[in-house]
Amino acid sequence: MGNTILEIKNVQKIFHTGDKDVEAIRNVNFNVEEGEFISIIGASGCGKTTLLRLIAGLEKKYGGDILLDGKRVEKAGLDRGVIFQDHRLLPWLTVEENLILGLEGKKEELREQVNIYLKKVDLENFEKVYPGQLSGGMAQRVSIARALMRHPRILLLDEPLGALDALTRMNMQTEIGRIREEEKTTMIMVTHDIDEAIYLGDRVVVMKPRPAEVDQIINIEIPRPRLRSGEDFAFYRNSIINIFNHSIMDYAI
Ligand SMILES: Nc1ncnc2c1ncn2[C@@H]1O[C@H](COP(=O)(O)OP(=O)(O)OP(=O)(O)O)[C@@H](O)[C@H]1O
Ligand SMILES: [Mg+2]
Repeated sequence: MGNTILEIKNVQKIFHTGDKDVEAIRNVNFNVEEGEFISIIGASGCGKTTLLRLIAGLEKKYGGDILLDGKRVEKAGLDRGVIFQDHRLLPWLTVEENLILGLEGKKEELREQVNIYLKKVDLENFEKVYPGQLSGGMAQRVSIARALMRHPRILLLDEPLGALDALTRMNMQTEIGRIREEEKTTMIMVTHDIDEAIYLGDRVVVMKPRPAEVDQIINIEIPRPRLRSGEDFAFYRNSIINIFNHSIMDYAI
């Protein structure tokens, strides 16, 4: 760590819809270091997805600057992988076909990559299966493998575990943490789940209600592997809950 990979400077986004404008993001500023895991948490509708879409280059017009390796983000690119709440695998292709879609290289080499990455997400021997035959957690793991196989500079995750039951979700958090240790990929994950944000994050960015502004950025100084039942974990959980309580009160006034 130490190198800044992403700079988010005075970022603003206004959607022009019909006769009214929606200010989704007001003035967001933070940097991301190479290899860092950033969790973003905030109320529904506050602009988290919009921010990720901006970083991904999926929304083109915005104010301020998003600099990836010093270059302003203006369009989508393979240097950014995106994982959404739903897995978005193509149902008519097998797992293997989904994984190699759009990649160039010799067939045997691609197959080898498929095996390596399926192993990383604990899905060895699932290459010939269709997405419809997988559980939600398994399909989401395939989409993580698909993103990692493209070696993105940054992996952007928008509530990737939102559709999973609590137990699968916890297992998947552990798995994402393990993959991140192995791959050292810089990751930015949006979540609604405070524990998930703390469990995975080096830092947690807490957003204010709409329009999105950064409320606080919290360094999570718990050694890994982290225990969700630890006292230090409870301390961070309470701190974040307190930030939300205050911002809800401010909002109501
Ligand atoms: N394409 C769009 N056109 C118009 N308004 C939009 C568009 N996309 C998002 N918005 C508005 O911007 C605001 C932020 O939306 P966004 O989806 O970023 O919120 P979010 O924090 O991801 O919410 P959630 O936690 O529910 O996913 C909302 O008021 C939303 O209605
Ligand atoms: Mg969202």
